Amino acid sequence: MQIVKWRESYETGVASMDNQHKTLLDLINQLYPIVRDHRGQEEISKIVDACLSYAKKHLGDEEQLLLDNNFPGLQEQLDHHAQFTETVNTFAKQLTDSPDTVVPELYAYLRTWWISHIVGIDKKYGPYLQEKGVK
Ligand SMILES: [Fe+2]
Ligand SMILES: [Fe+2]
Repeated sequence: MQIVKWRESYETGVASMDNQHKTLLDLINQLYPIVRDHRGQEEISKIVDACLSYAKKHLGDEEQLLLDNNFPGLQEQLDHHAQFTETVNTFAKQLTDSPDTVVPELYAYLRTWWISHIVGIDKKYGPYLQEKGVK
């Protein structure tokens, strides 16, 4: 397993969202050495918390932006985001009991979910928001 490299094909064309997506993938990448080196509980919690709280901030900002611009695909976004939140909450509950198994699973989930969500769902709002002049 490797760290995630940002690709041009992940861009929605809305700079504020692309920057948040980049930051988020950078934070997720910080989990990689933790998974590889079996770091201690304190360091695990610090980085997991940073990933999850930034993810929460991003989802909120994105939903607000889509709402403000009457994006027709808002409900699809809300559903996907809610599913994500539910899954990470489940991971977070298991984390303290068995970090050695949960952290690699969480890392794999975050990587896969974010890339497929950005490419499959978020990119749909790109042309719509760009037409409205949203940056
Ligand atoms: Fe989204
Ligand atoms: Fe997003």
